[in-house]
Amino acid sequence: MSATVIDGKAFAAKVRGQVATHVTALKNDHGITPGLAVVLVGEDPASQVYVRSKGKMTVEVGMKSVEHKLDADTSEADLLALIQKLNDDAQIHGILVQLPLPDHLDEDLVINSIDPAKDVDGFHISNVGLLGTGQDSMVPCTPLGCLMMLRDHHGSLSGMDAVVIGRSNIVGKPMAQLLLGDSCTVTIAHSRTKDLAEVVRRADIVVAAVGRPQMVPGDWIKPGATVIDVGINRIDKPEGGTRLVGDVDYESCAAVAGAITPVPGGVGPMTIACLLANTVTACCRANG
Ligand code: GUN
Repeated sequence: MSATVIDGKAFAAKVRGQVATHVTALKNDHGITPGLAVVLVGEDPASQVYVRSKGKMTVEVGMKSVEHKLDADTSEADLLALIQKLNDDAQIHGILVQLPLPDHLDEDLVINSIDPAKDVDGFHISNVGLLGTGQDSMVPCTPLGCLMMLRDHHGSLSGMDAVVIGRSNIVGKPMAQLLLGDSCTVTIAHSRTKDLAEVVRRADIVVAAVGRPQMVPGDWIKPGATVIDVGINRIDKPEGGTRLVGDVDYESCAAVAGAITPVPGGVGPMTIACLLANTVTACCRANG
């Protein structure tokens, strides 16, 4: 069997198109332009790439993009003061503080200082609680993108066995909540899970979000299962240079799976598309 490749790049372009249509309607009908503020502290090269990309796509869908680049030694008080200013700014509907933050900054304190209604990352403790209790919330972008691809591929996910590998607050835990919300039977596996191969072999849906290159081999995958690969890892090529790979071994998994997301071009583009969609949602909620 050869898996269907789930084209996240094309799906994300479609979602961004829908966002752009919505943004145009908000402007024409209500005179409102959704605004997204992104805060980057320090000069982590990967974070700089993400932030640039977010800013570019925000403008492309017609929204206002504001970037705040702060020095790596910015004090917590200064960062909190900036967030307060953005919370109070009626033209800003979404606020994203790029993670990870430098060590001297308390990540939980910073995230929880964002107005939950503007927390387009869905990381604020209020949004985490709302998601966990099945109430309307801001949903973290990466797991939301994964869920959209799964729903698009399968229609209903009800009754499916899903295994999420990885228990991070950004992906693993919210992913599990979303799958549970769609009536999957959900297992969260992690570095201490016993017989991980056996656990993964039971799954109709495997979401790999561990940050370990090519960790999941094809012989862990149940024939016909759907594999969503959240990993983005850069590895050395034998012939020199580097390439991006996911958390699953693509070739061997694609030979067994029913469907699989590639890296790059799978989950990655959906994350930013969902960020833009969350910003429009926040804008609509703010304006009744
Ligand atoms: N760093 C890596 N992924 C993310 C994300 O989804 N949101 C934020 N704010 N920072 C990140």
